Amino acid sequence: WRKDWIDPAAEEWQGEEGAALLRSAFEKRAYEVWISEIMLQQTRVATVIDYWTCWTTRWPTIQDLAAAQPDEVLSAWRGLGYYSRATRIHQAAQKVVADAELRGLLPETAFELEKQVPGVGRYTAGAISSIVFGRAEAILDGNVARVLSRQLAHRANPKAKATTDFLWGTAQRLVEAVARHTSAEGRSDRPSKWNQALMELGSTLCTPQQPRCHECPIRGTCRAYAEGEALAVRRAEMH
Ligand code: ADE
Repeated sequence: WRKDWIDPAAEEWQGEEGAALLRSAFEKRAYEVWISEIMLQQTRVATVIDYWTCWTTRWPTIQDLAAAQPDEVLSAWRGLGYYSRATRIHQAAQKVVADAELRGLLPETAFELEKQVPGVGRYTAGAISSIVFGRAEAILDGNVARVLSRQLAHRANPKAKATTDFLWGTAQRLVEAVARHTSAEGRSDRPSKWNQALMELGSTLCTPQQPRCHECPIRGTCRAYAEGEALAVRRAEMH
């Protein structure tokens, strides 16, 4: 068991030595969450767990991964599919470790993560920044898009850029609202909990084909539910 949120206010992180330990705890977690989110992009949670555990045991830090051989990395990914992702993670780790500015540290903001880490897109950047560093950064995957579309009874074409832009904007405003009470450093455990709760809701209850609306904790604010139309919104779209 481990705490899922590194609380910067905890006693163990106080003082100069504590601050350095805190930084390394955040970095280790950022590396772990990065790996998990890339694995989870094409594979179910239940399958990912074993791969992720093996991977992070074998290469506990980004420096360890950067030093690995390409064929070892590929073989650790065997069975997950989409092998270019393994190669891309490996090369990105080498870049972050070799980069004179980053010096092995993953950046905290979604903007810098997306800009500086090859293969990290808007989703992964938002996930690392919110889940690990506690920043108010949105994440939007297929599950979150469906939950938000149903909440708002937004029936626009899921593939249109305008729809995606609208949903990212909505997700961002919401995560900022839940993070209103942040520390001076701009950190809070709320963005992490909020973003992961939305993903979880979309993968467990608010599913494409058989939404279990009567069990949903947020059906009270759901416009599609109120209109008796939850299933009609984004039914066809598989995650
Ligand atoms: N699916 C992918 N990443 C996830 C996360 N961090 N929480 C819940 N579901 C997820």
